[in-house]
Amino acid sequence: MDVQLKIREAVKNDIEKILAVENGSFPVPWNEQAFKCEFSKQASGMNLFFVSADIDTGDIAGYAVGNVIVDFVHILNIAVAPQFRGKGIGRELLKAVEREALKRKFFSLTLEVRETNDPAINLYKKSGYMVKGRREKSYNGIEDELLMWKTL
Ligand SMILES: CC(C)(COP(=O)(O)OP(=O)(O)OC[C@H]1O[C@@H](n2cnc3c(N)ncnc32)[C@H](O)[C@@H]1OP(=O)(O)O)[C@@H](O)C(=O)NCCC(=O)NCCS
Repeated sequence: MDVQLKIREAVKNDIEKILAVENGSFPVPWNEQAFKCEFSKQASGMNLFFVSADIDTGDIAGYAVGNVIVDFVHILNIAVAPQFRGKGIGRELLKAVEREALKRKFFSLTLEVRETNDPAINLYKKSGYMVKGRREKSYNGIEDELLMWKTL
């Protein structure tokens, strides 16, 4: 049976399933507390948090989360479960965050990415993000990170 995915705003009940995606996506994943902290920012409007979820089971294929910083949005994290990669879900999640940013009248977005993370860098470049800077050895003290920006 085909999985039917829909992008929607994340809710607290998604945390367990988001953690499954997170743990399969990063060598040093965020923990439950980090996600709880993101949800605690929702009431203040600081947080933009979307998931791609199976409409039948509620399973999460991917998520993207960003924070409002003064007058721009900082994309903190985006991940798609390995079995769902390469199907356009990352691009759609990024678009969902951008649509929400625009709705709230924020016109710039920024993010950091490890300089060897080609899938992510390609996703961001294809989505219109441009490299504007580099932070030396800022990823675990070993790897450089690229600073990317997009103006909507
Ligand atoms: C980066 C990530 C979110 C991409 O998600 P995805 O759903 O697979 O990406 P999409 O299918 O939407 O692909 C969009 C574009 O990204 C690029 N891309 C995606 N996977 C790629 C890969 N394995 N190699 C090279 N480029 C890739 C392509 O340019 C693609 O566009 P195209 O299909 O027109 O060629 C996913 O690989 C992931 O979760 N990685 C682990 C977590 C991570 O590193 N997150 C980023 C932190 S900064």
